[in-house]
Amino acid sequence: MNSIKVFCPASVANVSCGFDVLGFCLDGIGDEMKITKTANKGLIISKITGAELPLDPNKNVATIAASAILKNFNLDYGFDFEIKKNIKPGSGIGSSAASAVGAVYGINKLIGEPFEKKELIKFALEGEKYASKAEHADNIAPALLGGFSLVRCNKTFDIIKLPYPEKLYTTILHPEIELKTSHARSILKKAIPLNDVVRQSGNLAALISALYTKNYDLISKSLKDYIIEPYRSKLIPEFDLLKKTALNSGALGSGISGSGPSIFALSKGKEIAENVGQEMKKIVSKLPIKHNVYVSKINQKGVKII
Ligand code: HSE
Repeated sequence: MNSIKVFCPASVANVSCGFDVLGFCLDGIGDEMKITKTANKGLIISKITGAELPLDPNKNVATIAASAILKNFNLDYGFDFEIKKNIKPGSGIGSSAASAVGAVYGINKLIGEPFEKKELIKFALEGEKYASKAEHADNIAPALLGGFSLVRCNKTFDIIKLPYPEKLYTTILHPEIELKTSHARSILKKAIPLNDVVRQSGNLAALISALYTKNYDLISKSLKDYIIEPYRSKLIPEFDLLKKTALNSGALGSGISGSGPSIFALSKGKEIAENVGQEMKKIVSKLPIKHNVYVSKINQKGVKII
């Protein structure tokens, strides 16, 4: 195989109660990446469309992640990348993770698949680390593996793929303002009151249980964030009203997607998820901000060849 084209899916990290440890993969929303073998050694990025991102392979998340996997081999050829970004950087739906995951998945295929999918997490994380200045695999893991992923440990890449009820749909409202993950992390408190940790742990544990037992009521009760949302919500115009609107329109829960500014909601069934999107749209339409609304089922497969 000399060339490969991959779909690199968007993802929702944190899922309210699982800061840096929980995420799920979106269906139909994602980037496209073509990787072609070249006669000359090394990596080049010949084209990026859809976003202003560095063509310098030492400064681009995709090629940084690709270099991490390629360090293990001494190949006498190189690779050329063409990237079509449909996920805006700084949107909160895993733009950098999509680039990193697409790159390591594509390269692994082109060199004869020496690594299992799960083993690619540590290489993709090198790209994510460069972008967000922190090690968190809660976008990388679901973008790579699909479905819901729980990151037991961000250092040992201990990832657990979780089941989820079939009728679970998500609505994403993406207000087109750029919020850098590094900034959204810098405003967080380093010390958390014990009481909030206890409440958050209870909700995370209950959400995991609810995903296994397909208990929509328990999913709804558990989608709460006492630790991160109070700080980051201030960076998102009309966040409180949008969240309230999502809940009043039938969503099981709603919160900040990753580090924002996108807001996600989870609903039982496509119809409710679409209604949630329409109602949220009515609110943002009154703001002088461009926005996109997506409705998606959970993507079970993750990154794939197209
Ligand atoms: N867990 C990360 C954060 C996700 O919230 O900073 C970034 O998309």
